[in-house]
Amino acid sequence: MIHLLIFLVAGAASAATASGDGCHDGCSLALAAYYFSGESNLTFIASLFNFPDYTALLPYNPNITNPDYIVTGDRISVPFRCSCLKLPADPAATFLAGPIPYNLSRGKTYGDVAAEFANLTTVAWMEATNRYPAGNLPASGTIDATVNCSCGDKSVSPRYGLFLTYPLWDGETLASVAEQYGFSSPAQMDLLRRYNPGMDGVSAKGIVFIPVKGNGLSGGAVAGIVIACIVTFIAGICLGAIYCRRQKMRKAMSLPYPEDSIQLGSGSQAEGMKVARSIEFSYEELCDATNNFSMEHKIGQGGFGSVYYAELRGEKAAIKKMDAKATQEFLAELKVLTHVHHLNLVRLIGYCVESCLFLVYEFIENGNLSQHLHGTGYEPLSWTSRVRIALDSARGLEYIHEHTVPVYVHRDIKSANILLDKNFRAKVADFGLTKLAEIGTTSQSLPTRVVGTFGYMPPEYARYGEVSPKVDVYAFGVVLYELISAKEAIVKSTEFTDAKSLVYLFEDTLSRRDPKEALQELIDPRLGGDYPIESVLKIAYLAKSCTHEEPRMRPTMRSVVVALMALSSKEYELTRGLEFSPRGPRSG
Ligand SMILES: Nc1ncnc2c1ncn2[C@@H]1O[C@H](COP(=O)(O)OP(=O)(O)OP(=O)(O)O)[C@@H](O)[C@H]1O
Ligand SMILES: [Mg+2]
Repeated sequence: MIHLLIFLVAGAASAATASGDGCHDGCSLALAAYYFSGESNLTFIASLFNFPDYTALLPYNPNITNPDYIVTGDRISVPFRCSCLKLPADPAATFLAGPIPYNLSRGKTYGDVAAEFANLTTVAWMEATNRYPAGNLPASGTIDATVNCSCGDKSVSPRYGLFLTYPLWDGETLASVAEQYGFSSPAQMDLLRRYNPGMDGVSAKGIVFIPVKGNGLSGGAVAGIVIACIVTFIAGICLGAIYCRRQKMRKAMSLPYPEDSIQLGSGSQAEGMKVARSIEFSYEELCDATNNFSMEHKIGQGGFGSVYYAELRGEKAAIKKMDAKATQEFLAELKVLTHVHHLNLVRLIGYCVESCLFLVYEFIENGNLSQHLHGTGYEPLSWTSRVRIALDSARGLEYIHEHTVPVYVHRDIKSANILLDKNFRAKVADFGLTKLAEIGTTSQSLPTRVVGTFGYMPPEYARYGEVSPKVDVYAFGVVLYELISAKEAIVKSTEFTDAKSLVYLFEDTLSRRDPKEALQELIDPRLGGDYPIESVLKIAYLAKSCTHEEPRMRPTMRSVVVALMALSSKEYELTRGLEFSPRGPRSG
């Protein structure tokens, strides 16, 4: 078994390189280049990947003009989710793959399944990732056809986020595939080699990963998709425009506009506030700015829907396309939200309620805190930067707890909802969104969505649904622990340990005879010992008080801000002259 693991990890070397060493996160989209042989057709390929019919594949294959006529040897791009998985036999070994569920029938072997998947998976991978030994598969049940994938590696190039998993076929090499996908210059070939170490010169064996631009498609693929989308969507846009106009007229007649009744708080944050009228966007405008919500604009996927990058009226924006329709009540809520402005809150620029609900936010350049702490390909954040991020997000939270009318409880504070701007200043995202789930929607998925995230929910909220600002204080405490340790809110089980909450791990550590000494074991090793231990200890105690089991014993966010300001000024004295930014480039 050990040999098999070594072989697999080596075999996945290019996947690992394209995604960093091992993985922490997957990505919502990867493409598989399925080799089209005489025995397959689009319907078969779609059903293999569990799509209801072949039309789901067409947007990714703009070159297909006639679905009934595909030439043997063509490659069909099949979209799938790329997840960070653990090898069952060695949970410390992580790898990126799409586990595609496959229904067994009598007499099937792993070899048969690999052949059906046109070598996108192999017998060895399936054996290592399924519980059945080769040669002893049951006559029914489901196994995973494990298709490797990549989400890119910022240290190789930040420009590529979407990758094609390409099994080499007869006579093919990395160079021949490169040529096919328009990578011809020496610099481009070098990039491809760095994504696929050890694959140069290998012929007709193994998988290579071909980057397609940014978080979207590039070159010929983009051109093709754009043409296909234009043809497909022109009719849609025309119909949409008529629909939009009707909807607008209907809304103008029926919706209340509560702007005039809105009050904004004042106080210490006054400099971070400004009042603006809410902006309603038309569906056409959003479609134009996102190329009809195409993959190349998609930047993420969350519990409420997908997020797209756009430039709207000269401003960079992130558009959240919600899996929900807005109720009148939520629309009124939205109008209030567009008036809440603070330096440390992601600004809601506007919205659109045509066809479904879209929220338009200011675009925050540097992704979310969770990615920086737990993801691969990011430079480690310095301790000074972490303290600053804590203070920024505490200020954002204090503002919604104390200074808005009505006051808000966020209820989904987590590192993924703290975004970092180009100067690594933090902004709290998604505040007010939990109201959507509370008010209720017409969507199938939202009513079942847990408002809040496991690992961040305090006991009184998880058990009895008791909501108060102290729910956010607890979750903020967990974020502080994350900043110290770079561990996730729930530390996953390993071969030797069970899954544990970060709160439990820190409490255990801080209750030891020498907490300062014990704490060292939990501090993020990527800090490289570069921190004042007293400062880390103080933040750990602050986090401990924030995560007190009894809500009344937790501090208010105002007290947390005061504590962090004191710490931060000490920090400044200690590290005067240093930027609040990640540490220098990582080697290796
Ligand atoms: N305003 C924004 N600017 C830049 N990126 C954003 C913005 N809003 C969201 N994102 C990115 O889009 C991705 C998805 O965000 P989203 O809020 O939908 O999911 P989430 O935070 O992971 O989960 P949840 O929906 O539970 O809050 C995240 O990776 C986030 O970093
Ligand atoms: Mg979010």
